[in-house]
Amino acid sequence: MIQAVNKRNDSCYVDFVWEKDPHIRGYKMGLENLFSGNYLDVMPVPLGTQTVLLTGCGQERDLTLLEVKELMASVAKTCKARKIKSCSVDLKPFVEKLGADTVTSAVLGLGLGGYEYVYHKTGRVPEEECVFGLEGIQGLEGQLKEAQELLKGIRFARDMVNTPGNHLRPMDFERMIQKYVEDAPIEAEALVYGQLRAMHMEALYGIGGSSEYPPCLLILRYRGNPEDSEVYGLIGKGITCDTGGYCLKSRDSMAGIKGDMGGAAAVTAAIYAAAKMGLKVNITACLPLAENRISQAALLPGDVITGYGGQTIEVLNTDAEGRLVLSDAVSYGIRKEGITKVLDIATLTGAVAQMLGNTIGGAMSDDDAFYGLFERGLSHSGEKYLRIPFGKEHEKMIESDVADVKNVGASFCGTITAGLFIRRFCEGKPWIHLDIAGTAWCGTPTYAFESSGATGAGVTSLYYLMKEAQKN
Ligand code: BES
Ligand code: ZN
Ligand code: ZN
Repeated sequence: MIQAVNKRNDSCYVDFVWEKDPHIRGYKMGLENLFSGNYLDVMPVPLGTQTVLLTGCGQERDLTLLEVKELMASVAKTCKARKIKSCSVDLKPFVEKLGADTVTSAVLGLGLGGYEYVYHKTGRVPEEECVFGLEGIQGLEGQLKEAQELLKGIRFARDMVNTPGNHLRPMDFERMIQKYVEDAPIEAEALVYGQLRAMHMEALYGIGGSSEYPPCLLILRYRGNPEDSEVYGLIGKGITCDTGGYCLKSRDSMAGIKGDMGGAAAVTAAIYAAAKMGLKVNITACLPLAENRISQAALLPGDVITGYGGQTIEVLNTDAEGRLVLSDAVSYGIRKEGITKVLDIATLTGAVAQMLGNTIGGAMSDDDAFYGLFERGLSHSGEKYLRIPFGKEHEKMIESDVADVKNVGASFCGTITAGLFIRRFCEGKPWIHLDIAGTAWCGTPTYAFESSGATGAGVTSLYYLMKEAQKN
């Protein structure tokens, strides 16, 4: 738990020190030989009935928000390891230098540093959490609430992505999402398999029909500004398990196939936080949830299907399933839900991870004003995306000989052709595309606030985009 406090809790508190800080020696003679104040080193020092957590900040300099988040994550890890039950942190010096976003960085660092997915470890329960008391944040209570909603969202996204496929079928995921948004002013509607068939959403049910665990399209609606006709459509890929279908993945590339729903998880967390914070913006989330498997009903390479929007699609690779399910969700959002802007987010291509690794997501957009809002949001979320250019030559790459479009291009620029496939269903609406295949998951954490497995990529950037999109 993380809360604002006016007075230091005396049993345990954090003291930030630089490298070779004379302060270290001030606590105990000789301590400077044991603790040098290296960045992210934390040392508990007992002082009578108190404990001081000396927290190394490295060489003296101006710290960044990212560094504050990492430092707090290190503090949280130490509290967890030492079973410390409560701890105070004075944020005043950081708030003075870095402004209100400090609160968010601190809350996310403290709340994520000790994150572990332990549900399937016998005998382990999520530990009773340390209560962190934040000092020096008077007047920033709104910021604290926002940070807590985001923290909850990132944890939810991580939990969902980390959940093994056999514990999260599409309809399980649907139930988990509905449960998650229950206490927010969000309307939820699930279109189940029979309805998807009746409505001719062949791209979605064509993929999802490959499994005995049926697909669904989950719609979440939040109206924060009913007078406004603008409706932001957030479309998130929710493949709970991606075997590749008949274009079966190799056994080595099956690691992580349970995490192919990071896009849908991020959208859920973002719309929830937006609704809880009462942002003055209208959002409709369309989440295609499905498994991609092999069965009699599964699509075969060469099959031609008709998407909900009426375009025919030649399916040349059943492992390029994300763009298929997303295309129906986009068409449905535009035609039935009246969305006026489209943002899709997906763990879509291995190519983006090859290009940008685990810390930078791929982005595409055909609208500078819309993308401008997204970029302004990034200055708060701290996530990194590279906007990838594209042209007619790339659009050509997905033209089909036998249908209106095909679901794969050539063996190169696979991230671009995947994005452009989805754009074909946007009917000219301003569009942003986020490919988080490299960032939704990490083997070895890059930052102290990550743990191996799901990262919660996209949650904060989507939320801050919605915040920028509010009209006053
Ligand atoms: N979900 C995968 C993309 C992916 C790969 C995510 C690795 C995370 C890690 C997607 O459905 C997929 O299989 N994409 C194919 C596309 C190809 C067949 C054109 C890929 O990237 O190999
Ligand atoms: Zn795939
Ligand atoms: Zn996939």
